Amino acid sequence: MSTSGKVLYILESNKDSFSSGEEMAGQLGVSRNAVWKAIKELREKGYMIEAVSNKGYRLSGDNDIISSEGIKACLTPGFDRAGEIFVFDSLTSTSDKAKELAIKGAPHGTVVVAASQTGGRGRKDHSFFSPKGGLYMSIVLRPDFLFSTDSAELTSFTGKAVTEAIRELTGIEPYLGGINDLYVDGKKVCGILLEGGSEFDSGTLQWVVAGIGINFDSDIESFPKEVRERASSLFTRGKATASKNALIARVIEKVLDCQPIQ
Ligand code: BTN
Repeated sequence: MSTSGKVLYILESNKDSFSSGEEMAGQLGVSRNAVWKAIKELREKGYMIEAVSNKGYRLSGDNDIISSEGIKACLTPGFDRAGEIFVFDSLTSTSDKAKELAIKGAPHGTVVVAASQTGGRGRKDHSFFSPKGGLYMSIVLRPDFLFSTDSAELTSFTGKAVTEAIRELTGIEPYLGGINDLYVDGKKVCGILLEGGSEFDSGTLQWVVAGIGINFDSDIESFPKEVRERASSLFTRGKATASKNALIARVIEKVLDCQPIQ
């Protein structure tokens, strides 16, 4: 990991306190100048970082930039089921990327996240409108780690896992509707699509990709009319009570827990 990635992980893990440049340098085995350069790089990427002499650096409260460091910093200490977490600013589809990785052998728990998608897909070849403000993530699952390979059971499990993640972190109570959509007050806030690959001649399931799209603090007014009428977002812009990284981390934990949820 780059020095700026390591510094970001420290800042994301200590959001409520200042991290001194000297201590970070000591912890990472780099010079104070390298830490300073890392802070500069992070600011250039859009992070707002407070600097106070004799105290150090702290991420300012309203940073909500999705990063693998930020997601990892939000995982419960000791949670070891997540594989590599790939984060992109934009992708055609996180599920296309995750499927590509799964076919190449990516292990159970590999996660692909994007801040936006240009070709987000829903069920039955529908498109899934995926502008910035949403969370778009796909998780590679391998049959050996699943409690069931039955598609109905896995679909229901994933829907409940995402519902619980949202409820526990935000207090918002979505409910399941349609095949596997999440609704709040009659409007869709999340779509989930499970896709799988099997060995054709034996019918053995090889991988499943769970694709999850959540309207987090999306500008619903800018959605195409036919989507806008049926969609909502968990939060309005600037009013979120949790960070995107924290919700992604909670979804990862719930989905990879892989125990049937009652
Ligand atoms: C639906 O509403 O029919 C399911 C939508 C699933 C959307 C998610 S967003 C992350 C992943 N990438 C995609 O292209 N689709 C899924």
